[in-house]
Amino acid sequence: MGKIIALAMPKGGVAKTTSAVNLSIALANKQKRTLLIDADPANQCAIAFGLPDDPEIGTLYNVLSYLQSCDEAINTTENPYFDILPFKNISYEEELLLSQFNSDTKLFEHQIKPFIGGYDFVIIDCPPTVVGMTENVLNIADSVLIPVKSSMFSIAPIPKLLSRINKISSNGNPNLHVEGIFLTMHEFNTRASFSAKKELYSLYPNHMLTTAIPKNSAAEEASFRKDPVIIVEPNAKSSKAYEQLAEELIERNHSLDENTFQSFADTDNLNEL
Ligand SMILES: Nc1ncnc2c1ncn2[C@@H]1O[C@H](COP(=O)(O)OP(=O)(O)OP(=O)(O)O)[C@@H](O)[C@H]1O
Ligand SMILES: [Mg+2]
Repeated sequence: MGKIIALAMPKGGVAKTTSAVNLSIALANKQKRTLLIDADPANQCAIAFGLPDDPEIGTLYNVLSYLQSCDEAINTTENPYFDILPFKNISYEEELLLSQFNSDTKLFEHQIKPFIGGYDFVIIDCPPTVVGMTENVLNIADSVLIPVKSSMFSIAPIPKLLSRINKISSNGNPNLHVEGIFLTMHEFNTRASFSAKKELYSLYPNHMLTTAIPKNSAAEEASFRKDPVIIVEPNAKSSKAYEQLAEELIERNHSLDENTFQSFADTDNLNEL
């Protein structure tokens, strides 16, 4: 059984989707069998990969509404290590039905979890909330990876997410833990980014990952090129950083598998600032 990692943060625009798609490809490039699931009704993973709006493409929406089983719905890709389950470009009528999914807390456990054990990593992109679909995902996830844009506005919602994680881990999903917090859209030469990084390391020293994803125009432009930056510009700074994040996660989980305790608080990093 591999690891189910939710990309979650109750704040819009902090690079949850960008991180989910690029990290998934980075893990697949390292020959880890990886499934990317989009649990956000905004369906932006499909946009990131330029997937057509084609009824032949299996979707999470179809699985949650019992139209397809999860193994039928998962789409393979040219990369033998990478599969994807997009949300679906839903209509108004379909959107009205979403509240039914959100109230059925066992839906993911019955419809998704039994079918994803063959992957090394299952990366799940969540919407910018802690309720509804995110809560359903956290009920089956092993860990939560938290992207934080380098700004004070993005730090403020973290306690709400951590408190939901604690609640869910003591109420039915004891496996659930924080995988780590990492900086996104980080600018290595601005005071605002410096202050955000310093604040995060002082508030959450034990949760901070060493990788920070730099702000990089190539990452933003990639969505127009219908593939993640790591595919269209593998040498871009953000692509290299996502490769590093994948390595950090693989190393971290390998170490944890061997029951080796490691603290990932890299306070030395502050000296680089
Ligand atoms: N490293 C980066 N450098 C520059 N721009 C970035 C970077 N990462 C993400 N972006 C841009 O920031 C915006 C928000 O990113 P993204 O959609 O991934 O955030 P999100 O947290 O998934 O948002 P939402 O909560 O709305 O789903 C997008 O326009 C994206 O292209
Ligand atoms: Mg998103």
